[in-house]
Amino acid sequence: MKGRVLSVASECVPFVKTGGLADVVGALPQALAAVGWEMKVLIPAYRALRPLLEKMDAVLHEPGLFGGDGTVYAGRVEGIDLLVLDAPHLYDRDGGPYGGPGGDWWDNPQRFAALSWMGARIAREGIAGWRPDVLHAHDWQGGFAPAYLAYQGAGAVKSVITVHNIAFQGWAPSSLMTELRLPAAQFHPAGLEYYGGLSSLKAGLVTADWITTVSPTYAAELMRPEFGMGLQGVIAARSARVSGILNGVDTAIWSPEAEAVPFSVKAMAGKAEARATLCADFGLDVPGPLAIVVSRLTDQKGIDLLPHVVPEFIAAGGGLIVLGSGDPALEAAVRGLADDHPGRVAVRIGYNEALSHQMFAGADAVLVPSRFEPCGLTQMYGLRYGTVPVVAATGGLADTVIGVSPATLAAGVATGVVFHPTDALAFGQALTKLVELYGQPKLWAQVQKNAMMHPVGWETSAAAYAALYGRLLA
Ligand code: ADP
Ligand code: GLC
Repeated sequence: MKGRVLSVASECVPFVKTGGLADVVGALPQALAAVGWEMKVLIPAYRALRPLLEKMDAVLHEPGLFGGDGTVYAGRVEGIDLLVLDAPHLYDRDGGPYGGPGGDWWDNPQRFAALSWMGARIAREGIAGWRPDVLHAHDWQGGFAPAYLAYQGAGAVKSVITVHNIAFQGWAPSSLMTELRLPAAQFHPAGLEYYGGLSSLKAGLVTADWITTVSPTYAAELMRPEFGMGLQGVIAARSARVSGILNGVDTAIWSPEAEAVPFSVKAMAGKAEARATLCADFGLDVPGPLAIVVSRLTDQKGIDLLPHVVPEFIAAGGGLIVLGSGDPALEAAVRGLADDHPGRVAVRIGYNEALSHQMFAGADAVLVPSRFEPCGLTQMYGLRYGTVPVVAATGGLADTVIGVSPATLAAGVATGVVFHPTDALAFGQALTKLVELYGQPKLWAQVQKNAMMHPVGWETSAAAYAALYGRLLA
């Protein structure tokens, strides 16, 4: 074994998920084990997770953890070495991990400071005879963990923070400094101060030994004002300690060979059958490319562009199925598209993992018109399933898809359609390209094949994390 890592996060598949963060946190332990690193994952005991505690052991107690007692439970659950922080006053409530019907939980600063506090404590003292070499925090929810560790004396333990999405920064008023157990002396611009308040993400960015984000392009974008969302200067100041490591996808779960109608790059008949079933299930009849969107319906994802480009795409023979939920105005907008184009556009509002598999298997293309995209996973599912990605040239989308052009087609490397900038004009032109490509069966089959051969597993990324941990400890 090369070393031990404690991962501190607010989501982890298969226990709790609102987005790709959970997929990544859940996949890393196994991926790292394959290259000799042992990783345990610390997450909060949200209400839905409390039944797990019955199968776990209480191993660490902290009285008076931001308004009540905290207990860390340990156990191997679903193949993951899990540490769960039970603190009912903070986590045992109905609703999502970050909020309920009324919006964000009012005590989110305390809730995730508590998680981070326990992460730092485990990093310093160890837990049940196990002591990490590296503390690896994720996003604003884990941001205070490297800070507590640094302020209390990290010893030999190194820390890493990974930015999955800079749009969420963990803002809190500076009046919480004492309550959050932060040293008053650190309240200055090079330390904890952030536009007059506090940001747990900034705290992690200024104190961690290394900063990673989930694609090389996003790592570069984060240092620019258009993408840094206020933190660009903080990250640029540490640019020698910033790197981008692409996410992988779980190729056992996302496998065309394992779908209801299996197919593979050598035997594509199953995909045609899956397409027919998908169209029948949704009452669609689509002569051109059948596209899908599987996404949170938010501004980040460029969903508002769909009404501007879909009518022309439909007129050119295309079809669309949207699966997602989020912003009510965007939900209404995509519903409107289905009403306007019966037999060509279908919409399912909600979250449905099984349906998403059926859609990736049966569709011809997946659309990801994001304004920014730290990594993105659905374009990689698309690659794996020969469901040609149509993506904006930003973040991880730019790093994972090779756009069709005369040169990339001639070289036999194109895997999708890439457009820039993220606006209706460029997106519409990309869909025109998609329709043209689909109309040339030999070229289409070539692009599908290139896509399916493109490696999207965790191997390369796990090796990159392992190399980073190794360098930090050397
Ligand atoms: P983000 O984390 O920004 O939402 P990612 O592309 O990294 O974007 O990850 C999104 C994950 O959530 C993917 O695994 C995607 O398939 C899944 N997902 C998003 N919306 C839905 C939905 N409505 N139903 C099923 N899966 C969804
Ligand atoms: C964030 C990003 C997404 C990324 C995911 C996992 O939610 O929006 O692009 O793939 O984190 O790193």
